[in-house]
Amino acid sequence: MNTPSTPRQLFVTTALPYANGNFHVGHIMEYIQADIWVRYQKMMGHAVDFVCADDTHGAPIMIAAEKAGLTPQQFVANIAAGRKPYLDGFHIGFDNWHSTDGPENHELARQIYRDLRDNPEGSLIETRTILQFFDPEKNMFLPDRFIKGECPKCHSKDQYGDNCENCGAVYAPTDLINPYSALSGVRPELKSSEHFFFKLSDPRCVAFLENWTQDGKLQPEVANKIKEWFTVRHNPDGSTSEGLGDWDISRDAPYFGIEIPEAPGKYFYVWLDAPIGYLASLKNLLGQRGLNYDTYMANPELEQYHFIGKDIVTFHTLFWPATLHFSGRKTPDNIFVHGFLTVNNGEKMSKSRGTGLDPLKYLSLGMNPEWLRYYLAAKLSARNEDIDFNAEDFMLRVNSDLIGKYINIASRAAGFLSKRFAGQLGLVPEDGAALLHQLRSAHSSIAQLYEAREFAKAMRETMLLADRVNAYVDANKPWELAKQAGQEARLQGVCTVCIKAFRVLTCYLKPVLPELARQVEGFLKIAPLSFTNVSKPLPAGHIIGTYQHLMQRVETSQLEVLFEPPALMEQASAAIVNVADSKPGGEDIAPTISIDDFAKIDLRIAKIVHCEAVAGSTKLLRLTLDVGETDSAGAATTRLVFSGIASACKPEQLIGKLTVLVANLAPRKMKFGVSEGMVLAASHADEKAHPGIYLLEPFAGARPGLRVH
Ligand code: MSP
Ligand code: ZN
Repeated sequence: MNTPSTPRQLFVTTALPYANGNFHVGHIMEYIQADIWVRYQKMMGHAVDFVCADDTHGAPIMIAAEKAGLTPQQFVANIAAGRKPYLDGFHIGFDNWHSTDGPENHELARQIYRDLRDNPEGSLIETRTILQFFDPEKNMFLPDRFIKGECPKCHSKDQYGDNCENCGAVYAPTDLINPYSALSGVRPELKSSEHFFFKLSDPRCVAFLENWTQDGKLQPEVANKIKEWFTVRHNPDGSTSEGLGDWDISRDAPYFGIEIPEAPGKYFYVWLDAPIGYLASLKNLLGQRGLNYDTYMANPELEQYHFIGKDIVTFHTLFWPATLHFSGRKTPDNIFVHGFLTVNNGEKMSKSRGTGLDPLKYLSLGMNPEWLRYYLAAKLSARNEDIDFNAEDFMLRVNSDLIGKYINIASRAAGFLSKRFAGQLGLVPEDGAALLHQLRSAHSSIAQLYEAREFAKAMRETMLLADRVNAYVDANKPWELAKQAGQEARLQGVCTVCIKAFRVLTCYLKPVLPELARQVEGFLKIAPLSFTNVSKPLPAGHIIGTYQHLMQRVETSQLEVLFEPPALMEQASAAIVNVADSKPGGEDIAPTISIDDFAKIDLRIAKIVHCEAVAGSTKLLRLTLDVGETDSAGAATTRLVFSGIASACKPEQLIGKLTVLVANLAPRKMKFGVSEGMVLAASHADEKAHPGIYLLEPFAGARPGLRVH
């Protein structure tokens, strides 16, 4: 094992999150895993630069920005502004947070591309003309996710261009029946365009990657999976071919990204520049310190590690090392792959939205971030396997292990020391010395478990040590010694053993519980604990401070509120929702309009005279509305309106109520009939994560036909 006399230089990253939404608990898990490892390395005396950044480019972000009425730059800046409460809140200590749209990344991506293109042993870049769907109304090539149509296999309607959510078929967008653009609704045209390819099928590339992925550094289950990609390739159209395929690295304007040098109107596909963002964030950090990036990277001792989730292994074990190697750069020393976090046995959470456990809500309920860090540590191994957050299990592990076994050691001993001995440590009795020796000598095995990212095992070993300390306390019963005359020295000795043991255990838990460890260091009046100083015992006569409660227990009520569905939650605690939502209702206020713009919309009070479910639709209700209108003969008429409120309202509840109708909206032909207007209802922008639809109702006294001004 490395000793502190040979400090290592480590460059560590986590995957760069898409700047299209706030973090969910899956992101937080990845950051906590990496943060624990980094803190451990720092406690070993190694130098670590731990960086991340927002992954800002690509068509989906460009389109989301347009929808929000913002430039992509403004859009991603808003997202970036929301990162800090999560990172600070969960004690995640990145040394830098940057953006793939920063100048460093533009420059590095272009340079790396040029180096690939101009590789002295033969270019790795090639251009080819391909056919792609083009939206003639939006004037842009459509990414797969923005083409919809009928599944060629099971014929379900409205399926995405890359796979069918109904039958699971994987296909090319061109296979869809009756394709339409999800942006404009029009039928896309096939248009040819010149694309740039990274020649991954080049024999040099294949040979390099076969070795790089199979030389034993990767997790065995990851390496095995990759092996398949070298033999058989599954094409989007369902066919298979042999070996690695070339990688399409360009997209046509309009695209939010980095323009390809010497190729106006062509941009790097987001996955080309995203990992380069690792280097860009590092370069930015070094710049802040006045250090030279090239010198730093030229250090042959530098180790580079990327923590990622299992869904992005291809990018990190094939494209990324190949990009680096064939542009003449250092490749990563390893890629650490973790599985996915699920919540309460829930299905895999949506990648962009997450579900179940809202990290900011967790914090706003006053739940201790280090409970979550401990719980995740207690479940994480070096293997690429999924883990589940289970509320009961969480409460049990925190309350019985962390608090019951570890915190209690200090609370049981410190009171006697401060009350009876002015906080002064005494001499360690012989049996206690043996126990302390046992604890201290676990230090290298626990360090090795951290090094190997076997955090669950490290927690288990530490808790076994805590069990021994508790057994020692139970055998010596300080509370009884305290009552007996002439047992002062023994009482002080037993409590001294407890405090010294507590100090050692705190060191072992410090990568996981940094804030708690800081408090303990304050209370014990000791220098910051590290794996390099833990074996040096505290001298007899050392005086500790007064014990103050270090950690609360998890309450059932906290978990109940945490997992309450958002709709109930909003009523229960409006304040919490305000913290959780950085944007009102989940979306930015639309761009300013003039009073004339508003006057164009004719809003009228409408009475719901009839309402019924729509056969064949789970979403829609058919409303018959009285808006005070009459026909040319003076007879009262009604309007028929379809509204997507079935999940929130029962038809019989609505009959006889008043609401607000957009009365001059162009009639819309729907599958079930023509809708002659639209009723107003409120909902969150992200309806899946924040369900609830609320139909508007005027104050008492309003009558059908009155205009809303
Ligand atoms: N932007 C890309 C990564 C580019 S890296 C150069 C991306 N972003 S992401 O926001 O979708 O995911 C970021 C990280 O979060 C990935 O490592 C992903 O695996 C991880 N997770 C997303 N959902 C997760 C869980 N439910 N559980 C654990 N990690 C999860 O992919
Ligand atoms: Zn299908």
